Amino acid sequence: MNARSAPVEPERSTLPPESQAPIRDGEVHVWHGSLNAAPGGVSPAEEALARRMRSARRRREFLVCRGALRRVLAVPLGIEPLAVPILAGAHGKPSLAPGGRPALGFNVSHSGERFVVAAAVGMEPGVDIERIRTRRSLFRLARRFFSPAEQEEVAAAPDPRHAFYRIWTRKEAVIKADGRGVAIGLDRFDVNAGEPPALLDARWAGAAPDEAARWSLHSLDAVPGYVAALAVRSPAAAVVVRGAAPPSG
Ligand SMILES: CC(C)(COP(=O)(O)OP(=O)(O)OC[C@H]1O[C@@H](n2cnc3c(N)ncnc32)[C@H](O)[C@@H]1OP(=O)(O)O)[C@@H](O)C(=O)NCCC(=O)NCCS
Repeated sequence: MNARSAPVEPERSTLPPESQAPIRDGEVHVWHGSLNAAPGGVSPAEEALARRMRSARRRREFLVCRGALRRVLAVPLGIEPLAVPILAGAHGKPSLAPGGRPALGFNVSHSGERFVVAAAVGMEPGVDIERIRTRRSLFRLARRFFSPAEQEEVAAAPDPRHAFYRIWTRKEAVIKADGRGVAIGLDRFDVNAGEPPALLDARWAGAAPDEAARWSLHSLDAVPGYVAALAVRSPAAAVVVRGAAPPSG
């Protein structure tokens, strides 16, 4: 299923009115943003964490994205951004402290100059955005990270680079929705490169016999030069692209 085609306006400087729209059951809402935006609006613990990060680039992506995440989640929770109780969960996946209402699941991804935030009620979305790099050795990376079926799809595609990034972002979105990261086993599930996006087969530990049918994958392509995907363990989830994440300050 594809994302609904509401326009993305990455560089808006004011909070658009539609940003106040509620997240309904069955919907996953998505915001895009620029990592060149001013960082701000993170907790003292997050500032301390950022100070321990080795590269300025990593600090910037963490601070800009985390601040935007707090502002996005504050609206449905009805609290101040700094009060949003973000915890580092198992395998490093950030989550909300249990018991909050609504019960929001969320995920973020950053690459190049862009970030993506996804949030849903009662579901755990996974997102991945990747800047398309033209010098990457596609087939070597595909052999290392993709299942045999996915490697074949890249090799047979009319545009192997496009197919590679589709599969890469869809796989990342799945492992991020699951939360176990690469521990899930990158060769233990297959995604496609075509449309509509799909989890074709899942053989990871704990997978239900009909695991693949329980998921929906979505393309989030909104910014030239990037590929992005969303995955959620809900077969009928609808994606609502909300546009630019609210800026700091
Ligand atoms: C987090 C992870 C799952 C993805 O990392 P990534 O693609 O480098 O980075 P992204 O920008 O997409 O996502 C990073 C964000 O995901 C979140 N995250 C961290 N651990 C996570 C986990 N286990 N599950 C879901 N989200 C996680 C964090 O919010 C993090 O951003 P922050 O630290 O700034 O808050 C990483 O731990 C990983 O395993 N990477 C392996 C990548 C790989 O080998 N891919 C093969 C191609 S399919």
